[in-house]
Amino acid sequence: MSSSNGSITISIDGTNKSMSLPLLSGTEGPQVADIRKLYGQMGIFTFDPGYGETASCDSKITYIDGDAGVLMYRGYPIEQLAEHSDFIEVCYLLMNGDLPNAAELKEFRDGVTYHTMVHEQIRRFFDGFRRDAHPMAVMCGVVGALAAFYHDNLDINDAEARRIAAFRLIAKVPTIAAMAYKYALGQPFVYPKNSLSNQPQGYARNFIHMLMSVPAEEYQVPEVLAKAMDRILVLHADHEQNASTSTVRLAGSTGANPFACIAAGIAALWGPAHGGANEAVLKMLADIGDVKNIPAFISEVKDKGSTTKLMGFGHRVYKNFDPRAKIMKESCDEVLAELGVEHEPLLEIARELERIALSDDYFISRKLYPNVDFYSGIILKAMKIPTSMFTVIFAVARTVGWVSQWKELIEDPTQRIGRPRQLYTGPGRRDYVPVTQRG
Ligand SMILES: CC(C)(COP(=O)(O)OP(=O)(O)OC[C@H]1O[C@@H](n2cnc3c(N)ncnc32)[C@H](O)[C@@H]1OP(=O)(O)O)[C@@H](O)C(=O)NCCC(=O)NCCS
Repeated sequence: MSSSNGSITISIDGTNKSMSLPLLSGTEGPQVADIRKLYGQMGIFTFDPGYGETASCDSKITYIDGDAGVLMYRGYPIEQLAEHSDFIEVCYLLMNGDLPNAAELKEFRDGVTYHTMVHEQIRRFFDGFRRDAHPMAVMCGVVGALAAFYHDNLDINDAEARRIAAFRLIAKVPTIAAMAYKYALGQPFVYPKNSLSNQPQGYARNFIHMLMSVPAEEYQVPEVLAKAMDRILVLHADHEQNASTSTVRLAGSTGANPFACIAAGIAALWGPAHGGANEAVLKMLADIGDVKNIPAFISEVKDKGSTTKLMGFGHRVYKNFDPRAKIMKESCDEVLAELGVEHEPLLEIARELERIALSDDYFISRKLYPNVDFYSGIILKAMKIPTSMFTVIFAVARTVGWVSQWKELIEDPTQRIGRPRQLYTGPGRRDYVPVTQRG
């Protein structure tokens, strides 16, 4: 819980109006000024488009220090979790606040495994989509449609109902993601496999199995793929109040069905400024086409008149380095070497682009470093996962973060419906003029 610690006084120049704003302190990070009584006492709102300076909630889940390149889930540094933990344990941690003991982990893993299948009627939704539909469009639709299966018996004010909804989401989203992929290929859907879930990196193994195997052939999930996918999932599991998580919280604040809230998060994640960046990185590499075209591309990015960005570079919060990118870069080097694809043309373009951008003053002075999506895009490409699935994999990973944040929101007795204010700059009051009298 936050504690009150000092105050700041604000006054409106030229008037005798002033007020004291309590300063709240969390466990880590800067203090925040509590402005909840500002309008009531001073008659003014704050203006913060993009919410860059505004804490929208208090949360115990994830901490980021963008300047120091720190990311912690429930206090555990991401570097330690990436090295020693696996995704299912991280899910438990995010959801419950602490790492599980062996019995708790088994029960949790079994709980997720139990819910991995989807209602057979869900299969029929897929027939309504074109085969070439973007899998994120399919995800928005089908995950949202889960609300139609679990609405009437879901009381979000009941802790057990929330727990089951959370299990269902964490368990079913990879199944739906794999179905979206298989549908695009015209291959049969592959059911989840319990025996895989019980192994280390079992969640990732099961997901790869559903993506890559076909019923007619034996398929062993390659170790390198299981580990790389698991690491991608761990690194993307939560990221505090980013655009998609804030979307889930905003939708959740109205009391909406959690499956619908997560579908809203998926929609927000899809954009190229957010989760769509890993897909955009690969598109950018394909557009560049050849290492020799990189200097011209970099000039275009630096041109003030152009809207071209170096995708996979820059971050709203991390201004020194993205700790996830550091881990992902190591994974990237390992995966490329193990799969023997270091010399694939697109991957060579990526390496050269990274080298040039990291030594170019434009990027250095603006603190633009490769973010996690730059490397995750390259790894997924090396794993032969189609580009259109990249953001879907991000959504699979982030589902646990969304669900944990949604649960925290519903369980917070002080939570209110999210309802920002605005600075209105449209026309002042004016009277309606009939169309016959308009010039
Ligand atoms: C992530 C992102 C949206 C953060 O945006 P932001 O915090 O609002 O950063 P700003 O737009 O204030 O950028 C500051 C400066 O860097 C430039 N900049 C930011 N990201 C850039 C990029 N990827 N390529 C080139 N220039 C970039 C901006 O044009 C601006 O330049 P200026 O000061 O000359 O006007 C932005 O960096 C971006 O679009 N990156 C590419 C997409 C991406 O990889 N997203 C995934 C994030 S995990």
